[in-house]
Amino acid sequence: MAGGEINVSNVTVTLDEPNPENEQPTRAHIIVVGNAKGGSGKSTTAMHIIISLLTMGFKVGAIDLDGKQKTLGRYIENRQSYISKKKLQLAMPTLRVIEPSPKKNMDEAQSDERARFVAALQELVYENNFVVVDCPGADSFISKLGHSFADTLLTPMNDSFIDLDLLATVNGSSLEVEKPSWYSEMVWEQRKRRALIDNHKIDWVVMRNRLSHTDAHNKRHIEKILSKLASRISFRAAPGFGERVVFRELFLKGLTMLDLNKKGVGVKMSMSHVAARHELRHLIKSLNLPGIEDKVEKL
Ligand SMILES: Nc1ncnc2c1ncn2[C@@H]1O[C@H](COP(=O)(O)OP(=O)(O)O)[C@@H](O)[C@H]1O
Ligand SMILES: [Mg+2]
Repeated sequence: MAGGEINVSNVTVTLDEPNPENEQPTRAHIIVVGNAKGGSGKSTTAMHIIISLLTMGFKVGAIDLDGKQKTLGRYIENRQSYISKKKLQLAMPTLRVIEPSPKKNMDEAQSDERARFVAALQELVYENNFVVVDCPGADSFISKLGHSFADTLLTPMNDSFIDLDLLATVNGSSLEVEKPSWYSEMVWEQRKRRALIDNHKIDWVVMRNRLSHTDAHNKRHIEKILSKLASRISFRAAPGFGERVVFRELFLKGLTMLDLNKKGVGVKMSMSHVAARHELRHLIKSLNLPGIEDKVEKL
């Protein structure tokens, strides 16, 4: 994939063409994990995707745009500490965290954040096969900017009508989709801009997270509405993650269930880890990422 200009909020950002001397002349595929609110599993999903890609042997860059919470940044730093402490041979991504600007003036703060984000992207995008960008869950400038660079946009949502409402208004009695949410409109806007500039189609994938193992009725309802919504606002629905302790218990060690069978890690694999691993493999397959076909069995 070539470099190119991407226009964001009336500002054109150029990802320079890479140095021809560079061994990897094409740019990385950019996966942006974003949605309208916090707490739906963006950082958790981003980390699990990063470790999946590393496990498949790819070089991965990670950008945490939620510099205030810095969940992804801390997850990756915890991994580095654990690796050093236990002298482990585990693959690491290259991390960049974009802290919120200390500048008081809004325009200055935005250009400061933009400059640091684009510099980080520029640095990572020609050195890696994939760059995973974790967004803050709000209608912020930096989140919009992040979305505009997506080759794949992955939106995790909790399995509830409240989260569905963040994609579109749904009629309470007919369960028909009435109108897209501000978030869906924003994604639409970024897709239009991108198509005009480099003719690139952002592949938008929505996944359900923290699926309950018991509430089958609610699950079916949401599934039905989601599939109507998918054709109305053009996303693909992907298989998601169940509500499982294994998706959060390894944060302090910076690990995921994919790391557990490696030498010296010191955490025993359980049935729940195996089930979660299966869910993760399923999700990765459905993302249709370039070059992964013959590597998925490593997961
Ligand atoms: N599938 C899951 N099962 C159990 N807990 C989860 C799951 N996904 C996320 N969590 C937990 O939910 C909380 C919010 O997740 P996080 O990834 O930080 O969301 P976001 O980045 O969207 O704010 C965290 O405590 C996280 O550990
Ligand atoms: Mg987060």
